Amino acid sequence: MKIGILISGRGSNMAAIVDAVKSGEIPNSSVAVVISDKADAGGLAKAAERGVETLVVERRGRTRAEHDAEIADELEKRGIELVCLAGYMRLLSPEFVRRFAGRIVNIHPSLLPAFPGLDAQKQAFDAGVAVTGCTVHYVDELLDHGPVILQKEVERLKDDTVETLTQRILAEEHQLYINALKKLAMDARATKQA
Ligand code: GAR
Repeated sequence: MKIGILISGRGSNMAAIVDAVKSGEIPNSSVAVVISDKADAGGLAKAAERGVETLVVERRGRTRAEHDAEIADELEKRGIELVCLAGYMRLLSPEFVRRFAGRIVNIHPSLLPAFPGLDAQKQAFDAGVAVTGCTVHYVDELLDHGPVILQKEVERLKDDTVETLTQRILAEEHQLYINALKKLAMDARATKQA
């Protein structure tokens, strides 16, 4: 499974994926490129340190479709089979979603369909829920939406602040993303062998 990862920021999920691919925890896979829409994304250095090709594709006043077309071209040039969104904070255009139909996955820090959008952990905290969590899902044309692959619940503790809750969710995100990709890699291998 040839993976391309899109990021906008810190890139901790991206780093967890790259490390799990390198260790073989995600089998038969490689991460061919990490693309950021932000030149100052902290994740770019993390990818480079891990020997993964990095690319910055900024929007530069273009339409969403034009920007996404450049990203899609770069992914296709490298033969990417699976696109992983890891803190990629832009909605993808319908054209991009169609070009990679069924081959785009995302991680989101809530139990979707609850709390899509920005600051999902704070949304859940402010809503006073007893349990929140994280979701890995296939991406469709809507924001933080599409068939769920895996979810993990995280309890809100009595003394939690938004920050401590966010931290515990993030730790679960890393393992959940790895588990989801492991499942997809094993399914892909089974399909290729059939
Ligand atoms: C993660 O918590 C991820 O779930 C969230 O952004 C953070 C990125 O952190 N994504 C979304 O909210 C998508 N709607 P990271 O850059 O360290 O992986």
